[in-house]
Amino acid sequence: MRAASRGLALAALLLASASCEEEAQAPSPRQPDGFADALALATLPDESPDEAVLEVTLEAKVIEIEVLPGRKTPVWTYGGSLPGPLLRLKAGDRLVVHFVNSLPEPTSVHWHGVRLPNAMDGSPPHTQDPVEPGGRFDYEFVVPDPGLFWYHPHENSAAQLGYGLYGALLVDPATPEPEGLGDEVVMVLSDMAIDEATGAILPQDQGGDLGTLFGREGGAMLVNGKVRPTLRARNGLRQRWRIVNAARSRYFLLTLPGHSFERIGGETGLYAEPVATDQLLVLPGSRTDVVVTPNGAPGEVTTLTWVPYDRGYGSIEFRDPASLVDVAIEGDRAEVDALPVLGGGVEPLDLTGATTVDVRLTQGEAPDGTLELGINDVPFAQAEPFVAEVGETQVWTVHNEMDWAHPFHLHGFFFQPLDESGAFVQPVEWRDTADVPERGTLRFAVRYDARPGMWMFHCHILDHADAGMMGMVDLTMP
Ligand code: C2O
Ligand code: CU
Repeated sequence: MRAASRGLALAALLLASASCEEEAQAPSPRQPDGFADALALATLPDESPDEAVLEVTLEAKVIEIEVLPGRKTPVWTYGGSLPGPLLRLKAGDRLVVHFVNSLPEPTSVHWHGVRLPNAMDGSPPHTQDPVEPGGRFDYEFVVPDPGLFWYHPHENSAAQLGYGLYGALLVDPATPEPEGLGDEVVMVLSDMAIDEATGAILPQDQGGDLGTLFGREGGAMLVNGKVRPTLRARNGLRQRWRIVNAARSRYFLLTLPGHSFERIGGETGLYAEPVATDQLLVLPGSRTDVVVTPNGAPGEVTTLTWVPYDRGYGSIEFRDPASLVDVAIEGDRAEVDALPVLGGGVEPLDLTGATTVDVRLTQGEAPDGTLELGINDVPFAQAEPFVAEVGETQVWTVHNEMDWAHPFHLHGFFFQPLDESGAFVQPVEWRDTADVPERGTLRFAVRYDARPGMWMFHCHILDHADAGMMGMVDLTMP
């Protein structure tokens, strides 16, 4: 009898603990099924059986796409989609791209931000010849760093981006990231100048020298190739947005009314700690990694909004905010754990023995009286390279002598921004693109690893780069 009741008690105890476990394993709240379908990016089949290799064929070709409702626009695409396919692999993996040019003019593919060998940088005339119409080029390199990167042409770049040539390259870290950063959405921001009556893309030299001086912004702002798509969101449940600005000239300053963003990373890797902000600035060429917790009553819509950013005369005057993505809230409020420890962050570079480089971003006139931009008053076509040696650390000071800001980009190497006093900007981070405010200064430190060759640097307002604001660093072995 005694033994039997003990047995019963034990059974009851086991039952109780089992139901307890069931409770602990209750499914965690989820985003609505297909929540990001409206923002889905195209992908390409992997032609390699090797897990550590992503091998694709990427054809640049003109395709008609309905960018504005009811209008057909002949878009220059990578792989037939706008934007081009998302290429996703792990840090340390090898990317093999069989590139085919079916466009009516020469082009190339530059892998923005990736620390690759010089010959794979896609920058004619230095690292390769342009790929002629009907031509091919095989790109093959290891992606060493995690982060969101992107690819775009480096030949007649402003126009070719304006026609639609850009895509995202997402590199996951080799070791898994902390759980609980939220469901991921990659957002490729861009714009396009479309004739609303015919759907044709407007001429890429619109506005002449004034257009060049300001940097041409297309009237249709696009997120993943769409005008104002809808992203669905479970009330209170964190999402992770990985954003790249692929526009030829436009700065994207973003707000989500009633919400703040937590920046958890920048162009490569996670931060040590999140940084909260109400307004998120994404420079042309740059990327950011943020978490957002959409909040609101079910059925409510909150809108990711482009806000005019003051980058010089004409950038905020008479301009209104614009809607980019509607975020539609669904369901009762989800209970979510606090953000996990990010565990990222980078050590500041050792600047002992660093050499200095002074660069001025300048505006001038060509012999025929047209606008010509330059580095130290020299346009790219006449530029002599700056020099650097493998293993060298340099501190650059970039002075902006113009009345407009310039997003400065260095190929092939990350740098760490410094402030006016020479201290590291916090949080210390690796970047490849950073702003030089109008009449202001950008300082940064860069250390060159063993990838000699001719590396470009330029303004990522591509109208400016094409007008001459581009230079190169000749990196040699010591
Ligand atoms: Cu996005 Cu020369 O670069
Ligand atoms: Cu510029």
